[in-house]
Order: sequence, then structure tokens, then C-alpha cells
Amino acid sequence: MEFPIINMEKLNGDERAATMAKIKDACENWGFFEILNHPIQVELLDTVERMTKEHYRKCMEQRFKELVKSKGLEEVDSEIKDMDWESTFFLRHLPESNINEIPDLEDEYRKVMKEFAGKLEKLAEELLDLLCENLGLEKGYLKKAFYGSKGLPTFGTKVSNYPPCPKPDLIKGLRAHTDAGGIILLFQDDKVSGLQLLKDGEWIDVPPMRHSIVINLGDQIEVITNGKYKSVEHRVVAQTDGTRMSIASFYNPGSDAVIYPAPQLLEKEATTEEKKSISYPKFVFQDYMKLYAGLKFEAKEPRFELIKTVDSNVKLGPIAIA
Ligand SMILES: [Fe+2]
Repeated sequence: MEFPIINMEKLNGDERAATMAKIKDACENWGFFEILNHPIQVELLDTVERMTKEHYRKCMEQRFKELVKSKGLEEVDSEIKDMDWESTFFLRHLPESNINEIPDLEDEYRKVMKEFAGKLEKLAEELLDLLCENLGLEKGYLKKAFYGSKGLPTFGTKVSNYPPCPKPDLIKGLRAHTDAGGIILLFQDDKVSGLQLLKDGEWIDVPPMRHSIVINLGDQIEVITNGKYKSVEHRVVAQTDGTRMSIASFYNPGSDAVIYPAPQLLEKEATTEEKKSISYPKFVFQDYMKLYAGLKFEAKEPRFELIKTVDSNVKLGPIAIA
């Protein structure tokens, strides 16, 4: 049981079929994989890392220490269930960038993060098309499924640092959850580990690798693929040594995009004998996000049920089986 690592260069040669099969297996059985030799230049990754770490030291570290002190987090003696040991800020890229409004960022850092976001957006769309190919969906299907009325996804980056934690058993870096959105691209620290995913009831480390990007699938991909691919629970265990950098970019549906299982995948499903126990809902993405805000650290299945009862102001209609 080895964590799936995909060499993207192999998509351009004799090993394309085997590599696509590896991606398929990762999507079906892990909800996670890590890509190497992807199109984002290592020089850009190095710059993003250097500037993010500098920014943390300059603008975030002291604030985090004060928060820890004010909440008495270093002296806790029982499990903390309503907080995470993380220092974060959030950048939005699409539908409109808010990078210029975020305080404390150097101009050069803003410029680099904009460039990085542009490359990640393209990479996300390339990956979605690989998923389409494996699912037997037409090229561009997932990208279009994410379009809201503006013809754009929601795309943003959560920049996090997980400082050394004296009590990692009692307070998690980030409590276990599945991601709400579409496809997530993570540039993580290559030395300080901590990200784990739940597989067959066991927590498995996502290995730090220099210049890799970790990919995982969110709840929306599970719904659109009618459960063929699943969003998988993950968490961050804070380390006692070293600060972990984590830059997670979320390529999600547009806020008014209507999300539902791809009719083609339902049709195939109906011809198989095995009936799935979950019937996936149809909903407007922003309604799901409102629900998720209060239920992020709960299991996803009740969310899928609950969203069916939410009255939307958009007329949804039945899921058409084309
Ligand atoms: Fe997550």
C-alpha cells in the first residue's frame, strides 16, 4: 500500500496508459496523489516557498505566539476540539482577485503569488481533463460543470504555517475533515511532514517531497462522479520540531454553479447490478458551502443528505439522464 506518486512527464510517452491507470487507481482508492515533473517551474516554487516563509517570520509568527499565550494553549491538559494549531491567511483569485487588498504583503510577494495562481489554475484544469478521460466524460466536462453564470470557477489559496507544537496529541494542526470543493493543489513543506489521510481506517502520511504538488479531491468531485471518486478525510498533525509550510489552492465551482452527478455516470450505474447506498444530491454550490461552514469537521454523508432539504432560490429540476 504505497502512497501514489505520479510522474507527469510519463503522460507524454510510452507509459501514458500505465500512468493514466495509476491516476485512476489513486482517484478511486485514495482520493489523493502526489505529482512530480508537473508544468510549474521549480524556480517559481522555490521563490514562493522563500517568500512565504519570510512573510510568516516577519508578519505572522509573533501574532501566533500571542494568540497561543492569550488562550493558554501551551498549558492545556485535555484535547482541544474547537481550534487548530495553525497560522493562516487566504487569497482569492477567481472570480476576482483580492490579493491587492490583503494587508502586510510585500509587492513582490503579491506578484509572485498571482503568477503562481495562474499556473495552478491551468494545472487544475489539465488535471480535471485527465480525470474526465479516465471517467469516460468528454474533455472539459468537469471544468464546465464548475462554471457558474460568470463562466468561472471559484479559485483561492489558503497559505498556512503550522509552528512547532508542544502538545500535538491534544491539539491538531488541522482537525480531520474532507474538503468541500473540487480539486485541491497543495504545495507543502518538503521537510516538515504532518499531513495524513484516512485509508481503510488508518492514518497514512502524505510524504513530503521536494517540488511535488499534492492533489486531492473534494466533495463536489464525489457528487459529480456519482461516488466513483471520493473525497477522503485528512488532517494535519502538528510537529514538535519545525514549522510546516502548506499552500493549498482550491479549484472549486462558481458560487451559483448547479452541482449534480454526471448523467453519463448515472446511466452506467443503472446498468450495473450493484446499487450504491448513497444517492447524491443536486444543489447550488454556495448553498453547500453555507452548510459546510458549520459542519466542516463532521462526516460528509449527513451533509449530502441535509443539502437535499435546502430550498434554493435557483430552480433545480430533476437530474436529467441524457
Ligand atoms: Fe483539507
